[in-house]
Amino acid sequence: MTSAAENETLTRVGAGTPAGELLRRYWHPVAAAGELTEEKPIKAVKLLGEKLVVFRLPPQPNESKPRYGLVAEQCAHRLASLAYGRVDDEGIRCPYHGWKFELGGRCVEQPAEPADSIQKNRIRQRAYPVQKLGGLLFAYLGPAPVPLLPRWDALARQDGRRWIVVDSVIECNWLQPMENSVDPAHFYWLHGSLSPPSVLGPRQMTQYQEKYEFRRFEYGIMKQRITPGKNPGDPPMIDEHPLVFPTTLRLDIDLRGTNQVRHVLQIRVPMDDTNTWHYSVNFVPSATECSPADSDAPYEYCPLKSSDGQYNMNLVLAQDAMAWETQGLITDRTQEHLGTSDRGIVMLRRMLKEQIEIVQSGRDPLGVIRDPAQNTIIEFHTRQDRIGLSSSSREEQTV
Ligand code: FES
Ligand SMILES: [Fe+2]
Repeated sequence: MTSAAENETLTRVGAGTPAGELLRRYWHPVAAAGELTEEKPIKAVKLLGEKLVVFRLPPQPNESKPRYGLVAEQCAHRLASLAYGRVDDEGIRCPYHGWKFELGGRCVEQPAEPADSIQKNRIRQRAYPVQKLGGLLFAYLGPAPVPLLPRWDALARQDGRRWIVVDSVIECNWLQPMENSVDPAHFYWLHGSLSPPSVLGPRQMTQYQEKYEFRRFEYGIMKQRITPGKNPGDPPMIDEHPLVFPTTLRLDIDLRGTNQVRHVLQIRVPMDDTNTWHYSVNFVPSATECSPADSDAPYEYCPLKSSDGQYNMNLVLAQDAMAWETQGLITDRTQEHLGTSDRGIVMLRRMLKEQIEIVQSGRDPLGVIRDPAQNTIIEFHTRQDRIGLSSSSREEQTV
Protein backbone atom coordinates (compact mmCIF):
# COMPACT_ATOMS: atom_id res chain seq x y z
CA MET A 1 0.00 0.00 0.00
CA THR A 2 1.14 3.53 -0.68
CA SER A 3 1.46 5.67 2.43
CA ALA A 4 0.49 9.33 2.53
CA ALA A 5 4.16 10.27 2.72
CA GLU A 6 5.00 8.13 -0.32
CA ASN A 7 2.11 9.68 -2.20
CA GLU A 8 3.58 13.12 -1.55
CA THR A 9 7.04 11.94 -2.59
CA LEU A 10 5.84 10.50 -5.90
CA THR A 11 3.58 13.34 -6.98
CA ARG A 12 4.75 16.83 -5.94
CA VAL A 13 6.51 18.76 -8.67
CA GLY A 14 7.91 21.90 -7.00
CA ALA A 15 11.61 22.73 -6.79
CA GLY A 16 13.24 20.84 -3.93
CA THR A 17 10.61 18.09 -3.78
CA PRO A 18 11.79 14.53 -4.62
CA ALA A 19 9.70 14.07 -7.78
CA GLY A 20 10.11 17.75 -8.68
CA GLU A 21 13.88 17.35 -8.72
CA LEU A 22 13.58 14.17 -10.80
CA LEU A 23 11.28 15.85 -13.32
CA ARG A 24 13.75 18.74 -13.59
CA ARG A 25 16.24 16.34 -15.21
CA TYR A 26 14.09 16.12 -18.35
CA TRP A 27 12.99 18.46 -21.14
CA HIS A 28 9.28 19.33 -21.20
CA PRO A 29 7.16 21.02 -23.90
CA VAL A 30 5.91 24.51 -23.07
CA ALA A 31 4.18 25.45 -26.35
CA ALA A 32 3.67 24.50 -29.96
CA ALA A 33 6.21 26.60 -31.85
CA GLY A 34 3.45 27.87 -34.14
CA GLU A 35 1.64 29.42 -31.17
CA LEU A 36 4.32 32.13 -31.04
CA THR A 37 4.25 34.49 -33.99
CA GLU A 38 5.61 37.91 -34.88
CA GLU A 39 2.24 39.37 -33.92
CA LYS A 40 1.89 37.31 -30.74
CA PRO A 41 5.41 36.47 -29.58
CA ILE A 42 4.80 35.89 -25.85
CA LYS A 43 2.88 33.17 -24.02
CA ALA A 44 2.45 32.70 -20.27
CA VAL A 45 3.03 29.10 -19.26
CA LYS A 46 3.37 27.07 -16.10
CA LEU A 47 5.87 24.28 -15.68
CA LEU A 48 6.78 22.31 -12.56
CA GLY A 49 5.05 24.86 -10.37
CA GLU A 50 6.90 27.84 -11.89
CA LYS A 51 5.07 30.70 -13.61
CA LEU A 52 7.03 31.52 -16.77
CA VAL A 53 6.78 33.27 -20.10
CA VAL A 54 8.05 31.75 -23.31
CA PHE A 55 8.85 34.26 -26.06
CA ARG A 56 10.06 34.47 -29.61
CA LEU A 57 12.67 36.91 -30.85
CA PRO A 58 13.08 37.71 -34.54
CA PRO A 59 15.95 36.03 -36.42
CA GLN A 60 19.34 37.69 -36.09
CA PRO A 61 20.72 39.50 -39.15
CA ASN A 62 21.71 37.03 -41.87
CA GLU A 63 19.79 34.23 -40.14
CA SER A 64 16.40 32.81 -40.92
CA LYS A 65 15.29 31.18 -37.70
CA PRO A 66 13.62 32.93 -34.78
CA ARG A 67 15.13 32.57 -31.31
CA TYR A 68 13.22 31.50 -28.22
CA GLY A 69 13.54 32.33 -24.55
CA LEU A 70 11.88 31.31 -21.28
CA VAL A 71 12.00 33.50 -18.19
CA ALA A 72 10.17 33.85 -14.89
CA GLU A 73 6.87 35.61 -15.45
CA GLN A 74 7.32 38.17 -12.69
CA CYS A 75 9.73 40.97 -13.47
CA ALA A 76 12.79 41.25 -11.23
CA HIS A 77 12.02 44.95 -10.66
CA ARG A 78 8.62 44.97 -8.94
CA LEU A 79 7.09 41.72 -10.12
CA ALA A 80 4.72 42.84 -12.87
CA SER A 81 3.93 40.15 -15.45
CA LEU A 82 6.20 39.90 -18.46
CA ALA A 83 3.34 38.10 -20.23
CA TYR A 84 2.13 41.59 -21.20
CA GLY A 85 5.59 42.71 -22.27
CA ARG A 86 7.08 43.45 -25.69
CA VAL A 87 9.96 41.89 -27.54
CA ASP A 88 12.57 43.40 -29.83
CA ASP A 89 15.74 42.08 -31.44
CA GLU A 90 17.49 41.93 -28.12
CA GLY A 91 15.03 40.56 -25.59
CA ILE A 92 11.79 40.94 -23.67
CA ARG A 93 10.78 44.24 -22.10
CA CYS A 94 8.57 44.55 -19.04
CA PRO A 95 5.31 46.47 -19.69
CA TYR A 96 5.52 48.36 -16.36
CA HIS A 97 8.79 50.38 -16.33
CA GLY A 98 10.48 48.98 -19.40
CA TRP A 99 13.29 46.90 -17.95
CA LYS A 100 14.61 44.65 -20.69
CA PHE A 101 16.02 41.12 -20.36
CA GLU A 102 17.97 39.22 -22.95
CA LEU A 103 17.52 35.50 -23.66
CA GLY A 104 19.80 34.45 -20.81
CA GLY A 105 17.93 36.64 -18.31
CA ARG A 106 20.56 39.40 -18.12
CA CYS A 107 19.05 42.83 -17.56
CA VAL A 108 20.21 45.02 -20.42
CA GLU A 109 18.10 48.19 -19.95
CA GLN A 110 16.56 50.12 -17.07
CA PRO A 111 15.16 53.19 -18.82
CA ALA A 112 14.32 55.13 -15.63
CA GLU A 113 17.76 54.67 -14.06
CA PRO A 114 20.69 57.07 -14.60
CA ALA A 115 22.61 56.32 -17.77
CA ASP A 116 25.75 55.54 -15.77
CA SER A 117 23.99 53.18 -13.34
CA ILE A 118 25.62 49.78 -13.08
CA GLN A 119 22.75 48.28 -11.07
CA LYS A 120 21.49 46.38 -14.11
CA ASN A 121 24.70 44.36 -14.20
CA ARG A 122 23.61 42.68 -10.98
CA ILE A 123 20.03 41.95 -12.08
CA ARG A 124 19.11 38.62 -13.52
CA GLN A 125 15.67 37.39 -14.48
CA ARG A 126 15.45 33.63 -13.91
CA ALA A 127 15.89 32.12 -17.38
CA TYR A 128 15.90 28.61 -18.80
CA PRO A 129 17.06 27.08 -22.09
CA VAL A 130 14.52 26.43 -24.83
CA GLN A 131 14.92 24.16 -27.86
CA LYS A 132 12.59 23.56 -30.76
CA LEU A 133 12.02 20.07 -32.11
CA GLY A 134 9.21 18.59 -34.16
CA GLY A 135 7.10 21.73 -33.87
CA LEU A 136 7.25 21.91 -30.07
CA LEU A 137 9.23 24.23 -27.84
CA PHE A 138 10.89 22.31 -25.03
CA ALA A 139 12.27 23.76 -21.79
CA TYR A 140 14.81 22.44 -19.31
CA LEU A 141 14.52 23.66 -15.70
CA GLY A 142 17.19 21.46 -14.15
CA PRO A 143 20.82 21.84 -13.20
CA ALA A 144 23.73 22.08 -15.62
CA PRO A 145 25.09 20.36 -17.57
CA VAL A 146 21.97 20.46 -19.73
CA PRO A 147 21.24 17.02 -21.25
CA LEU A 148 20.36 16.47 -24.89
CA LEU A 149 16.77 16.93 -25.97
CA PRO A 150 15.76 13.36 -26.93
CA ARG A 151 15.03 12.97 -30.61
CA TRP A 152 12.10 10.55 -30.34
CA ASP A 153 11.11 9.31 -33.76
CA ALA A 154 7.76 11.08 -34.02
CA LEU A 155 9.51 14.37 -33.23
CA ALA A 156 12.65 13.98 -35.31
CA ARG A 157 11.70 11.98 -38.40
CA GLN A 158 11.29 14.12 -41.47
CA ASP A 159 9.94 11.63 -44.03
CA GLY A 160 6.25 12.21 -43.52
CA ARG A 161 3.56 14.47 -42.11
CA ARG A 162 3.68 15.79 -38.56
CA TRP A 163 1.13 17.74 -36.58
CA ILE A 164 0.65 18.72 -32.98
CA VAL A 165 -2.49 18.58 -30.89
CA VAL A 166 -2.47 20.81 -27.84
CA ASP A 167 -5.14 18.78 -26.13
CA SER A 168 -6.13 20.49 -22.91
CA VAL A 169 -5.18 21.13 -19.37
CA ILE A 170 -6.06 18.04 -17.37
CA GLU A 171 -7.03 19.13 -13.88
CA CYS A 172 -5.13 16.61 -11.83
CA ASN A 173 -1.62 15.57 -10.87
CA TRP A 174 0.65 14.34 -13.68
CA LEU A 175 1.10 10.85 -12.21
CA GLN A 176 -2.54 9.90 -12.79
CA PRO A 177 -2.26 10.01 -16.61
CA MET A 178 1.09 8.29 -16.39
CA GLU A 179 -0.27 5.45 -14.26
CA ASN A 180 -3.03 5.11 -16.83
CA SER A 181 -0.31 4.42 -19.40
CA VAL A 182 0.53 1.14 -17.66
CA ASP A 183 -3.09 0.25 -16.94
CA PRO A 184 -4.34 -1.69 -19.97
CA ALA A 185 -7.22 -3.19 -17.95
CA HIS A 186 -9.20 0.02 -18.40
CA PHE A 187 -9.20 -0.11 -22.18
CA TYR A 188 -12.14 -2.46 -22.71
CA TRP A 189 -14.35 -0.80 -20.11
CA LEU A 190 -13.57 2.86 -20.60
CA HIS A 191 -13.07 2.96 -24.37
CA GLY A 192 -14.96 -0.11 -25.58
CA SER A 193 -17.92 1.89 -26.85
CA LEU A 194 -15.68 3.85 -29.23
CA SER A 195 -13.37 1.10 -30.42
CA PRO A 196 -13.96 -0.96 -33.54
CA PRO A 197 -13.69 -4.75 -33.21
CA SER A 198 -10.30 -4.69 -34.96
CA VAL A 199 -8.93 -2.84 -31.94
CA LEU A 200 -10.92 -4.38 -29.17
CA GLY A 201 -11.07 -7.95 -30.34
CA PRO A 202 -14.18 -10.10 -30.71
CA ARG A 203 -17.23 -8.35 -29.33
CA GLN A 204 -18.06 -11.19 -27.02
CA MET A 205 -14.61 -11.01 -25.50
CA THR A 206 -14.54 -10.10 -21.85
CA GLN A 207 -11.75 -8.41 -20.04
CA TYR A 208 -10.75 -11.76 -18.58
CA GLN A 209 -9.52 -13.01 -21.94
CA GLU A 210 -6.92 -10.27 -22.00
CA LYS A 211 -3.46 -10.68 -20.62
CA TYR A 212 -0.88 -8.01 -19.87
CA GLU A 213 2.87 -8.07 -19.61
CA PHE A 214 5.22 -5.32 -18.56
CA ARG A 215 8.97 -5.17 -18.96
CA ARG A 216 11.54 -2.58 -18.27
CA PHE A 217 13.44 -1.26 -21.27
CA GLU A 218 16.05 1.37 -21.96
CA TYR A 219 13.64 4.30 -21.81
CA GLY A 220 10.89 3.15 -19.46
CA ILE A 221 8.29 0.38 -19.37
CA MET A 222 7.19 -1.66 -22.38
CA LYS A 223 3.56 -2.66 -21.95
CA GLN A 224 2.07 -5.60 -23.81
CA ARG A 225 -1.63 -6.18 -24.24
CA ILE A 226 -2.34 -9.76 -25.35
CA THR A 227 -5.76 -10.56 -26.77
CA PRO A 228 -7.30 -13.62 -28.49
CA GLY A 229 -6.81 -14.02 -32.24
CA LYS A 230 -9.41 -12.70 -34.62
CA ASN A 231 -10.72 -16.19 -35.43
CA PRO A 232 -10.97 -19.35 -33.31
CA GLY A 233 -7.64 -21.17 -33.41
CA ASP A 234 -5.67 -18.04 -34.34
CA PRO A 235 -2.67 -17.25 -32.15
CA PRO A 236 -3.03 -14.47 -29.57
CA MET A 237 -2.40 -10.95 -30.73
CA ILE A 238 0.11 -8.67 -29.06
CA ASP A 239 0.19 -4.88 -28.96
CA GLU A 240 3.06 -3.01 -27.35
CA HIS A 241 3.02 0.57 -26.17
CA PRO A 242 6.05 1.98 -24.40
CA LEU A 243 5.79 4.32 -21.45
CA VAL A 244 8.70 6.65 -22.05
CA PHE A 245 9.76 7.59 -18.54
CA PRO A 246 8.68 9.78 -16.90
CA THR A 247 5.94 11.71 -18.76
CA THR A 248 5.28 10.23 -22.21
CA LEU A 249 3.26 7.43 -23.80
CA ARG A 250 4.26 6.27 -27.30
CA LEU A 251 1.61 4.68 -29.52
CA ASP A 252 1.39 3.29 -33.02
CA ILE A 253 -2.01 3.56 -34.62
CA ASP A 254 -2.92 1.91 -37.92
CA LEU A 255 -4.89 4.19 -40.17
CA ARG A 256 -7.57 1.80 -41.25
CA GLY A 257 -7.76 1.09 -44.94
CA THR A 258 -4.67 3.13 -45.82
CA ASN A 259 -1.72 0.84 -45.01
CA GLN A 260 -0.35 3.72 -43.01
CA VAL A 261 0.69 3.95 -39.39
CA ARG A 262 0.47 7.01 -37.21
CA HIS A 263 3.17 7.31 -34.58
CA VAL A 264 1.98 9.27 -31.57
CA LEU A 265 3.75 10.71 -28.56
CA GLN A 266 1.35 11.70 -25.81
CA ILE A 267 3.31 14.00 -23.56
CA ARG A 268 1.92 14.88 -20.13
CA VAL A 269 3.46 18.11 -18.87
CA PRO A 270 3.36 18.66 -15.10
CA MET A 271 2.33 22.33 -14.85
CA ASP A 272 1.99 22.22 -11.09
CA ASP A 273 0.86 19.69 -8.50
CA THR A 274 -2.72 19.57 -9.78
CA ASN A 275 -2.66 20.55 -13.46
CA THR A 276 -1.19 18.67 -16.40
CA TRP A 277 -0.97 19.87 -19.96
CA HIS A 278 -1.52 17.16 -22.54
CA TYR A 279 0.26 17.39 -25.91
CA SER A 280 0.07 14.87 -28.76
CA VAL A 281 2.71 14.70 -31.47
CA ASN A 282 1.45 12.84 -34.55
CA PHE A 283 3.64 11.60 -37.37
CA VAL A 284 2.55 9.62 -40.43
CA PRO A 285 5.46 8.39 -42.59
CA SER A 286 4.98 9.12 -46.26
CA ALA A 287 6.98 8.80 -49.45
CA THR A 288 5.73 12.13 -50.71
CA GLU A 289 5.67 14.43 -47.69
CA CYS A 290 8.45 16.01 -45.65
CA SER A 291 8.33 17.69 -42.23
CA PRO A 292 11.70 19.16 -41.27
CA ALA A 293 12.40 18.44 -37.61
CA ASP A 294 13.48 22.00 -36.92
CA SER A 295 10.48 23.74 -38.46
CA ASP A 296 7.10 24.62 -36.98
CA ALA A 297 4.40 21.98 -37.41
CA PRO A 298 0.68 22.59 -37.87
CA TYR A 299 -1.09 22.53 -34.53
CA GLU A 300 -4.62 22.49 -33.25
CA TYR A 301 -6.35 22.73 -29.90
CA CYS A 302 -8.64 19.98 -28.72
CA PRO A 303 -10.96 20.83 -25.83
CA LEU A 304 -12.01 17.78 -23.87
CA LYS A 305 -15.06 19.38 -22.26
CA SER A 306 -18.04 21.26 -23.58
CA SER A 307 -18.75 24.85 -22.56
CA ASP A 308 -20.90 23.61 -19.66
CA GLY A 309 -17.98 21.60 -18.28
CA GLN A 310 -19.18 18.15 -19.36
CA TYR A 311 -16.63 15.68 -20.72
CA ASN A 312 -16.96 15.00 -24.42
CA MET A 313 -17.31 11.26 -24.00
CA ASN A 314 -17.07 10.75 -27.77
CA LEU A 315 -13.33 11.35 -27.48
CA VAL A 316 -11.08 8.64 -26.13
CA LEU A 317 -8.87 11.23 -24.44
CA ALA A 318 -11.88 12.87 -22.79
CA GLN A 319 -12.90 9.48 -21.43
CA ASP A 320 -9.40 9.12 -19.99
CA ALA A 321 -9.48 12.68 -18.61
CA MET A 322 -12.77 11.89 -16.89
CA ALA A 323 -11.15 8.95 -15.11
CA TRP A 324 -7.96 10.85 -14.22
CA GLU A 325 -9.71 13.95 -12.91
CA THR A 326 -12.41 12.11 -10.97
CA GLN A 327 -9.67 10.24 -9.09
CA GLY A 328 -9.03 13.55 -7.33
CA LEU A 329 -6.60 16.43 -7.80
CA ILE A 330 -3.88 14.24 -6.31
CA THR A 331 -5.51 10.89 -5.89
CA ASP A 332 -5.37 9.52 -2.35
CA ARG A 333 -3.37 6.36 -2.90
CA THR A 334 -3.77 5.34 0.75
CA GLN A 335 -7.39 4.49 -0.07
CA GLU A 336 -6.74 2.19 -3.06
CA HIS A 337 -7.17 -1.57 -3.28
CA LEU A 338 -4.78 -2.68 -6.01
CA GLY A 339 -5.27 -6.01 -7.78
CA THR A 340 -3.01 -8.18 -9.89
CA SER A 341 -4.01 -6.23 -13.00
CA ASP A 342 -2.41 -3.16 -11.43
CA ARG A 343 1.10 -4.56 -11.47
CA GLY A 344 2.17 -2.13 -14.20
CA ILE A 345 1.23 0.69 -11.86
CA VAL A 346 3.23 -0.89 -9.05
CA MET A 347 6.17 -1.23 -11.43
CA LEU A 348 5.95 2.47 -12.38
CA ARG A 349 5.80 3.61 -8.76
CA ARG A 350 8.85 1.49 -7.92
CA MET A 351 10.69 2.90 -10.92
CA LEU A 352 9.81 6.41 -9.89
CA LYS A 353 11.06 5.85 -6.35
CA GLU A 354 14.24 4.28 -7.61
CA GLN A 355 14.90 7.12 -10.08
CA ILE A 356 14.23 9.75 -7.39
CA GLU A 357 16.92 8.07 -5.29
CA ILE A 358 19.31 8.02 -8.26
CA VAL A 359 18.88 11.78 -8.67
CA GLN A 360 19.37 12.26 -4.93
CA SER A 361 22.66 10.39 -5.20
CA GLY A 362 23.83 12.79 -7.91
CA ARG A 363 23.45 10.54 -10.95
CA ASP A 364 21.44 10.84 -14.16
CA PRO A 365 18.05 9.11 -14.08
CA LEU A 366 16.60 6.76 -16.69
CA GLY A 367 16.45 8.09 -20.23
CA VAL A 368 18.65 11.16 -19.77
CA ILE A 369 20.80 11.31 -22.90
CA ARG A 370 24.17 12.98 -23.17
CA ASP A 371 25.82 11.14 -26.05
CA PRO A 372 24.91 12.67 -29.44
CA ALA A 373 25.59 9.31 -31.10
CA GLN A 374 22.62 7.86 -29.16
CA ASN A 375 20.40 10.72 -30.18
CA THR A 376 20.29 10.82 -33.96
CA ILE A 377 16.75 9.40 -34.01
CA ILE A 378 15.38 7.20 -31.24
CA GLU A 379 13.04 4.62 -32.72
CA PHE A 380 10.75 2.20 -30.93
CA HIS A 381 10.48 -1.26 -32.39
CA THR A 382 7.14 -2.37 -31.10
CA ARG A 383 4.83 -5.16 -32.05
CA GLN A 384 1.29 -4.17 -33.09
CA ASP A 385 -1.01 -7.03 -34.00
CA ARG A 386 -4.41 -5.52 -33.37
CA ILE A 387 -4.49 -1.82 -33.87
CA GLY A 388 -6.48 0.14 -36.39
CA LEU A 389 -8.63 3.17 -35.91
CA SER A 390 -10.29 5.29 -38.53
CA SER A 391 -7.95 8.04 -39.70
CA SER A 392 -10.93 10.31 -40.11
CA SER A 393 -11.70 10.06 -36.42
CA ARG A 394 -10.14 12.36 -33.82
CA GLU A 395 -10.33 9.51 -31.34
CA GLU A 396 -7.04 8.00 -30.41
CA GLN A 397 -6.19 4.77 -28.75
CA THR A 398 -5.07 5.80 -25.31
CA VAL A 399 -4.22 2.68 -23.38
S1 FES B 1 8.01 45.84 -12.72
FE1 FES B 1 9.06 45.38 -14.50
S2 FES B 1 10.12 47.13 -15.03
FE2 FES B 1 9.14 47.63 -13.21
FE1 LIG C 1 -7.29 5.18 -22.00
